[in-house]
Amino acid sequence: MGAGVLTRVGGTLRCGGRCLAELAGDHDTPLYVYDGGRVLERLATLRAAFAPLTPLVAYSVKANPNLALLGLVADAGAGADIVSGGELYRALRAGVQPQRIVFAGVGKTREEMRLGIEAGIKSFHVESEQEMDALGEVARSGSAAGAAMGVRVNPDVSSPTHEYTRTGHAAAKFGVPPDHAVELYRRASAHPFLRPVGINVHLGSQIRTPEPFLHALDVVLDVADRVRRDVGVRLEYVDLGGGFGIADGEAGELDVAALGREVAARLDGCGLELLLEPGRFLVGDAGVLLTRVLYVKRAGGKTFVVTDAGMTELIRPSHYGGVHAVSLVRDEGTGALERVDVVGPVCEQGDFLAQDRLLPLPAPGALLCVHQAGAYGFAMASNYNSRRRPAEVLVRDGDARVVRRRESWEDLVRGEVVDA
Ligand SMILES: Cc1ncc(COP(=O)(O)O)c(C=O)c1O
Repeated sequence: MGAGVLTRVGGTLRCGGRCLAELAGDHDTPLYVYDGGRVLERLATLRAAFAPLTPLVAYSVKANPNLALLGLVADAGAGADIVSGGELYRALRAGVQPQRIVFAGVGKTREEMRLGIEAGIKSFHVESEQEMDALGEVARSGSAAGAAMGVRVNPDVSSPTHEYTRTGHAAAKFGVPPDHAVELYRRASAHPFLRPVGINVHLGSQIRTPEPFLHALDVVLDVADRVRRDVGVRLEYVDLGGGFGIADGEAGELDVAALGREVAARLDGCGLELLLEPGRFLVGDAGVLLTRVLYVKRAGGKTFVVTDAGMTELIRPSHYGGVHAVSLVRDEGTGALERVDVVGPVCEQGDFLAQDRLLPLPAPGALLCVHQAGAYGFAMASNYNSRRRPAEVLVRDGDARVVRRRESWEDLVRGEVVDA
């Protein structure tokens, strides 16, 4: 079992002090359960790791955009890293202060830019020359005093993570190379409606060693220096992105304290505010997915544990090899371990939650807990196979609250017409 929020009392798993079997009984399965206390603990851990720099932690909304979680981190003073108008809407609805919001992404539309400018967000992170031109035009046509911005630099750093979650190498669609970034700052500084204020880098997800971050930081600090010397603009902040790796039952987590010390040493005397954009680090191990075993099936020399959750609830395993520890909610301590695939009910051979795992063979009706499912779990859930997305429950101070109800049949067809 991975570290985090779970304890076993009398053989039954608890999350945030609440019995998971009871929660599944009360709210049915599949069910997401989050421990709010754990999210705040992780926020405090990250802040402590970078303490001398008093970083602005901009929670990466994409990891888990539930309003209740967003409200929790907003109340604790966090900002938001957003990538769409929808995430802007959520962040503002949840009470995130606009001056703590940064807007990333390679494909922001003009409409999204307008909304961000009107809301008074801290900064846009532009990822191409054309995007910067569009931002300049939108800023010119608005009533606000222009748009604050930074350039997302592609440092050409390869991080040891899945190729789909690696974003800092030269061939990635993200960011611009350092020399080009300096040119963009030069153009921005001459634009009457653009205000270059920061610089951003983001390498990918589940990075577990400090080195790639430090390498990337060196690259962006060099760009910031060149912008100061060659362009005459003193930037106000450096945003190191997210991607801080967590433990998943197979690999350990990034030593954020060690990273914090090295980053503090490099930023000492620079006069740059530090921004961080953690997603998974804050919410990943604060959440679990509960699913019930429907059937156990043996075929072709394999044993399949068929559950009522699959890729529609948690697509990470089948999409990019995401690893999630799986355990029985009620461990009777009996039964030999068997090697099984935990598979969902979706009509795709690629529909699985775990492969080749040693588990005490569960009987139909048993409850399974899929760990570290707080990030990119519900956020990536879909209605494929016309399945209803599950409910989400937030546990806070022993109180379990439904923060998103299970979808109804009516929800499934909302907005559709039978005869056009
Ligand atoms: C720009 C940006 N910042 C931060 C994050 C958060 O990453 P993680 O959840 O791994 O911390 C992402 C995730 O893809 C991202 O694209």
